[in-house]
Amino acid sequence: MTNSGGFSTNSPQSAWSTDVIIVGGCGHVGLPLGIVLADRGCRVVLYDLNKAAVDLVNDAVLPFDEPNAGPILRRVIDDGTLRASSDPLEISRAESVVVVIGTPVDEHLNPDLFAVPNAIDALAEHLVDGQLLVLRSTIYPGVTARVEMLIAALGRTVDVVFCPERIAEGKAMEELASLPQIISARNEQGFERAERLFGAIASETVRLAPEEAELAKLFTNTYRYIKFAIANQFFMIANDYGLDFDRIRTALTRNYPRANDLPGAGLAAGPCLFKDTMQLAAFNNNGFTLGHSAMLVNEGLPLYLVSKADDRFGLAGRTVGILGMAFKSESDDIRSSLSYKLKRILRFRAAEVLTTDPYVTTDPDLVSLEETLERCDLLFIGAPHAVYRHLAPTQPMVDVWNLFGNGVVV
Ligand SMILES: NC(=O)c1ccc[n+]([C@@H]2O[C@H](COP(=O)([O-])OP(=O)(O)OC[C@H]3O[C@@H](n4cnc5c(N)ncnc54)[C@H](O)[C@@H]3O)[C@@H](O)[C@H]2O)c1
Repeated sequence: MTNSGGFSTNSPQSAWSTDVIIVGGCGHVGLPLGIVLADRGCRVVLYDLNKAAVDLVNDAVLPFDEPNAGPILRRVIDDGTLRASSDPLEISRAESVVVVIGTPVDEHLNPDLFAVPNAIDALAEHLVDGQLLVLRSTIYPGVTARVEMLIAALGRTVDVVFCPERIAEGKAMEELASLPQIISARNEQGFERAERLFGAIASETVRLAPEEAELAKLFTNTYRYIKFAIANQFFMIANDYGLDFDRIRTALTRNYPRANDLPGAGLAAGPCLFKDTMQLAAFNNNGFTLGHSAMLVNEGLPLYLVSKADDRFGLAGRTVGILGMAFKSESDDIRSSLSYKLKRILRFRAAEVLTTDPYVTTDPDLVSLEETLERCDLLFIGAPHAVYRHLAPTQPMVDVWNLFGNGVVV
């Protein structure tokens, strides 16, 4: 279905004082969604347990960086279409309840199957008949059915739908409007209500059954994670023979459409790709050789780089710097960043490790770029922020991203 136009409530005389409440609304997915919905005329409340983030949002301040979101947040806060709250009583006033809390895997790579059902159970007394309950977190397959059972056991008449978020952090404001929205529901009423909600923002909607949609989201992230792993494995193969993978990649992708989606090498990290690949593996009774291999390659890259650098430059007694601690370029998000794994390994081998990042504000151990350049004997690029491109460091550089265009051989 192709969409156009702004938001309209279920009925002209809607009794709801809020159109949409977003549970987890001050997070990386909830906040851009709320801003965009409010910008289309929808009355939005962001419900979040993080009171510091709630206060920031109500002051029209983004708790994290999301390009182009700031001015629209200011506008929708000022005109009263968006506000944030930690009061669960807000939930019963909303026609649609969107749940987009975090769904991490634990330290043993097991998904928390109950993260979303438990959060909904905790709010159950505030759910009321006639609401639309939208699951938007990336969930373990079967969670939608579990939530449906939970709602049935409560005796509530609530339409449950699963509509996964597929934006990339840093591109939310453009991608919420440009990406097709996968909509899944158990019946026509659920489909139509979800299409009405997302029709306000998405370019088109695509229907699937809930179990198909749960897998569609996991396949989306896993596919990307495996593509990064292929690039990283190719890099290691070429590098072990003293050859420059990026030079080879540039040649093989040139005017050759069948390979032009081969990414460059780099630290494939962040809060989604790895954990969703592990969610899929867990769902498939851990029978996911390709996914586990991708994990070994991507998670093994920091140690590979350090070992190669140690062989070539000798790390003992040296001061080593990492430029960029966010999990990807132009981001302030350090969640599951492999730069920190790199740091841990380097600290074991080198005398001292200095870390720097122009965007990250949540790590008290960071030092300035100037100090890093002045004091370090060797530099690693952790996150390929564009601001580093203009540097001309005098010390050796481990640049797996080929940010400096000098090749990636270590
Ligand atoms: N970050 C991304 O780019 C991205 C993209 C697509 C999908 N996702 C998925 O979206 C979900 C959320 O990810 P995120 O990056 O926004 O996480 P996040 O940690 O940035 O945001 C989650 C928010 O939920 C709040 N919260 C947690 N439990 C709550 C509860 N019981 N009630 C109210 N608020 C609660 C937290 O305080 C936080 O603000 C995950 O399932 C993730 O896999 C993330």
